[in-house]
Amino acid sequence: MLRDCFKKSKIGVVVLLLFGSLPLAAQIENYQPTAANLEARTWFQDARFGLFVHWGVYSILGDGEWVMNNQNISIEEYEKLPSFFNPIDFDAKEWVQMVKDAGMKYITITSRHHDGFSMFDSKATDYDIVDSTPYGKDVLKQLAEECRKEGIKLFFYYSLLDWNRDDYFPRGRTGKGIAGRGEGEWEDYIAFMKAQLKELLTQYGDIGGIWFDGHWDQKEWDGNTFGEVKVDWQYDEIYAMIHELQPHALIGNNHHIGVISGEDFQMFEKDLPGQNTTGWGTPADQIGSVPLEVCETINGSWGFNLQDRKHKSEKELIHYLIKAAGYGSNLLLNVGPMPNGKIQPTHVKSLKAMGDWLKTHGETIYETRKGPITPNSDFVSTQKGKTVYLHLLNPTLNRISMDYVPVKIKRVSLRSTGESIPYRNDRYGFILDVSSIQKNDIDTVIDIELR
Ligand code: GLC
Repeated sequence: MLRDCFKKSKIGVVVLLLFGSLPLAAQIENYQPTAANLEARTWFQDARFGLFVHWGVYSILGDGEWVMNNQNISIEEYEKLPSFFNPIDFDAKEWVQMVKDAGMKYITITSRHHDGFSMFDSKATDYDIVDSTPYGKDVLKQLAEECRKEGIKLFFYYSLLDWNRDDYFPRGRTGKGIAGRGEGEWEDYIAFMKAQLKELLTQYGDIGGIWFDGHWDQKEWDGNTFGEVKVDWQYDEIYAMIHELQPHALIGNNHHIGVISGEDFQMFEKDLPGQNTTGWGTPADQIGSVPLEVCETINGSWGFNLQDRKHKSEKELIHYLIKAAGYGSNLLLNVGPMPNGKIQPTHVKSLKAMGDWLKTHGETIYETRKGPITPNSDFVSTQKGKTVYLHLLNPTLNRISMDYVPVKIKRVSLRSTGESIPYRNDRYGFILDVSSIQKNDIDTVIDIELR
């Protein structure tokens, strides 16, 4: 109410300017990130690689995090899951070590997913890991402590949509077959989310940021296009609250649209920025000037899926990291831990392989920005200062050719040996003769020194 009044009344804002701090809504309308926030954005862009973790009671069923919706499990039945969720083998130290070995710089973990179950100790509900599982411990707290010790940043994924709570009403377009859902008040739901977010921002030390998801649930889908969002998510107040509690914390929202005021990074789900292989890719003209992050699964699922055999090869994973960087984006690579708290050994192995690759090639990925060469499936470029790293992903090419690149080149050489590579860059295009160089099956990096 008060929020709306102030939105409409300029006098209200002036009065508050004179008599105290601005109301949250007014702060967000002209969101100016603080210096600490801008610094965190740079850190984020430099980091380039993080681990996404989808973990919840759904892991017991081994059928992904959407199992409640996909199998139409009633609330009464689903609520039995916490009583036998007991991940005694969870070891925060082991996870964080795995992350470091993979060359990742941060973790984004589900604090509460669409099933509505909180993986942290929340006072706003008893439907959480501490109050309703035999395990009884806060996994986020353990992870936060370990991350702090090891210099890894921790972000929290937070679902806007909820299949469990009555006050998530009006309901969205998912979870319609879940029996036992009631009808409550939207304002109560917003208050609940605010209370939980406040907990996440005050009880886990400095966090990297909040990763929202589920916005799209409130858009009707007619089989072709999405309609308008039907509810007021009150992002203005929610974002302002987050920035007030931790100004450096970065806010992102997986809404698949352009950046909303108050957001500090933009994410792309299972698609490189501007691409749309999924059908929900954010259009290229809606890519903002904030840092970018692509999220992708290590196999075919977010949450633990027992029968998912689509484990990506090490080469595919490394290529995706390189391509993301070539698009000026981070890669947030997901694993779905098992119900015992362990990560599937095959995934640990793939992550280690990525880390090993980064040990030699990290300089061409970390702290880079996208290079001047338009990425394609054969090659992409990253850049740091006056060096452009041209990543040749297709080892069968003998000649790399593209349109003229508007840069002044001093020298082109093979990164691994330093040998010069013949090139021309003029009105006929930029052409490199790579016929005589030794190519690597995964990535051959060519250093282009600029003047
Ligand atoms: C989708 C899914 C969700 C997953 C997310 C990760 O929005 O609904 O299960 O958490 O993608 O990007």
